[in-house]
Amino acid sequence: MENTNEYLLNFRGYNFERTLVDIEFLKNIEDFEIRDDDVFVITYPKSGTIWCQQILSLIFHEGHRNGTENIETLDRVPYFEYNIRKLDYVKRSSPRLFSTHIPYYLAPRGLKSKKNKMLYIYRNPKDVLVSFFHFSNWMVKLEAADTIENYMKTFLDGKVVGSRWFDHIRGWYEHRHDFNILFLSYEEMKKDLRSSVMKISKFFEKELSEEDIDAVVRQATFQQMKSDDRANYLTISQKEIGTRNNDGHFLRKGIVGDWKHHFTVAQNERFDRIFQKNMKDFPLKIIWDLNEE
Ligand code: A3P
Repeated sequence: MENTNEYLLNFRGYNFERTLVDIEFLKNIEDFEIRDDDVFVITYPKSGTIWCQQILSLIFHEGHRNGTENIETLDRVPYFEYNIRKLDYVKRSSPRLFSTHIPYYLAPRGLKSKKNKMLYIYRNPKDVLVSFFHFSNWMVKLEAADTIENYMKTFLDGKVVGSRWFDHIRGWYEHRHDFNILFLSYEEMKKDLRSSVMKISKFFEKELSEEDIDAVVRQATFQQMKSDDRANYLTISQKEIGTRNNDGHFLRKGIVGDWKHHFTVAQNERFDRIFQKNMKDFPLKIIWDLNEE
């Protein structure tokens, strides 16, 4: 199997993190029994998954929102294919919230009933690359990269967890009519978190009061999440998965346009060329900079 090394496991053309994924689960993934009210948030890695896990937890769980329950987001919205805490999905009470990085073609067949609401969060791939670069150097389970130059090649070749960004987003977008799915960008959330929270809660038919919306927004800001141990994944990263040092954070910078501090002009031009080639005629607007409009 190509693209398979000590870090990656390639299953049906898509790269998973080798040690966190259960191959038996993957073999049966399409037959996974879906309940009508299961909720899925789908992302390519480093696109704001934990942000949406927190938002969904706050929207769906009053105890999360008003602080009467102290449950980590990983237990509220586990990664579907990376069952880090070995939860028994069948015993989870409904509605089950899941997050996932799987490509559209590995989605459980039950999701095609279109009864399930799914959220696809996408982020401009230059910032994804930068976030992934830092993350890969921090987490022991990802292959470290010495320079952005080298990492750009690895990323564009899809030799990373999640395979090629282009294929992930195109696949889900082009097959969106098979599912009941809302597309929202990281940049839109960054620009107007309140409107984004309202859009998400409306889509999931969750009627929240103005105060509840305020509470969700307040607890889903970058600074607030960074200091919230249920949401910042610090313990999970360091104690359960393993990091190379104590300097990194899941919530690293949380901004739009950090790529400008990392790419050279030549690297940016190369990226643009490859982006154009792969994303020509793609209708979703990708926002590279919040000042561009
Ligand atoms: P950076 O590394 O650019 O800071 P994922 O959860 O998919 O791995 O994505 C992680 C990225 O989302 C990180 O990006 C992280 O900082 C960012 N992020 C997480 N929560 C956020 C929030 N509340 N606001 C803005 N960005 C957030």
